[in-house]
Amino acid sequence: EEIPVELHKVRIVQKLHLRPIDERLAAIREGGFNTFLLSTKDVFLDMLTDSGTNAMSDNQLASMHHADDAYAGSQSFYRMESAIKEVFGKSLVLPVHQGRAAENIVAKAFVKPGDVVPMNYHFTTTKAHIDLNGGEIAEIFTDQALIVKSNNPFKGNLDIEKLKALIAKYGKERIPFIRLEASTNLIGGQPFSIANMREVRKVADQHGIIIVLDASLIGENAWFIKQREAEFANSSIKEILQTMCGICDIVYFSSRKVSSTRGGGICTNNKELFLKMRDLVPLYEGFLTYGGMSVREVEAMAVGLIETTDETVISQSPGFIDYTVKELDKLGIPVIMPGGALGVHIDAMQFLPHIPQTEYPAGALAAAFYIVSGCRGMERGTVSSVRDENGNDILSDMELLRLAFPRRVFTLSQTKFVIDRMHWLYKNRDLIGGLKFVDEPKVLRFFVGRLDAV
Ligand code: F0G
Repeated sequence: EEIPVELHKVRIVQKLHLRPIDERLAAIREGGFNTFLLSTKDVFLDMLTDSGTNAMSDNQLASMHHADDAYAGSQSFYRMESAIKEVFGKSLVLPVHQGRAAENIVAKAFVKPGDVVPMNYHFTTTKAHIDLNGGEIAEIFTDQALIVKSNNPFKGNLDIEKLKALIAKYGKERIPFIRLEASTNLIGGQPFSIANMREVRKVADQHGIIIVLDASLIGENAWFIKQREAEFANSSIKEILQTMCGICDIVYFSSRKVSSTRGGGICTNNKELFLKMRDLVPLYEGFLTYGGMSVREVEAMAVGLIETTDETVISQSPGFIDYTVKELDKLGIPVIMPGGALGVHIDAMQFLPHIPQTEYPAGALAAAFYIVSGCRGMERGTVSSVRDENGNDILSDMELLRLAFPRRVFTLSQTKFVIDRMHWLYKNRDLIGGLKFVDEPKVLRFFVGRLDAV
């Protein structure tokens, strides 16, 4: 058995509560069978997301003490700016309060009604911001992307032929940018290769279209490139990161994910593109040297970005995910393979073949797994989708339960507990029934919508 090893030691701990099962049942009922609505006092392992929950390093915490409080011209910002230059190779930086704020600014600056934004896959907040500005998304993933059990190392690749066809159909005037998402979240944290990025660049250059990179999970994507793309086997992570960002015109990120703190940023080396976005920052976020973040967060972000170039940091989450995925697969549990970044993704359609997609199998699995384990995952399926103009659910391509592995947070014994509980649930999966909405918000309904048993 190949076990992952923690390349860090635990120096600050937080007590957890493993409530009895009847209390967990009451808690999920009260939370409308939506794991977003649970209180952490009722949660044992919080695997909802890695967003803002990755462990911070001693150096990150230390940096927060020498933050420079200033509305304008803070030294903390200049340290962040220089970290971004060093890690991503981009020198014009806009700070924002989190990833979706970057998406708001990019969409406002570049997307107009009737536009189409091609991308390897959407993220929920990305799509919402493009929609809000009158555009639409076009997902041009490869045929491999949605195959659950695969040994394709780069399921996050963008399909080049589909990209060419899309440009031929709409023309470059209607395509404000091509979006690439590193460690593609909603298809299971799956990376793309630099070879693929270079192909995208070639097509983009032929038509004069810019490329925007969502770098929220770029560290892990770089790690996978080092592991899986022969050309880069001997490259440093920093060289890989610089190569990836060098292919793209604008790079934006959620710092809640990439560097374990709060905040986010947008960076570019193109002055013209920078100026199209710049004035939106004081309007929506805050002055250009804090962008809605506290200076303490800005400092921790700077240190965290530098730590993203450290293999012992960015390999941790993929290592635990890979281990868990292989163990679950041995038990016959349908899980996205190969293991990606961010979390373990269980295929609820195969796990619960008796629940139709209109009764939200991934949502039902998330609720059931919480009841049997106290561990909270996140639904990534039709609950996270939207309705069409007739009020029918647009069924999601995949019905996934995501169990996030925030970086350096959980131990191997906790991981084994998760595997054991999932095994029990799989053997007793006939106990699980479907869900229906009883309270459904119009936008991003999965966050606060409430459901009940059908
Ligand atoms: N882009 C990607 C690829 C993301 O995964 C996220 C957030 C965002 C943008 C938005 O960033 O949350 O800082 O506003 N993903 C989190 C998740 C929420 O749980 O997967 P944000």
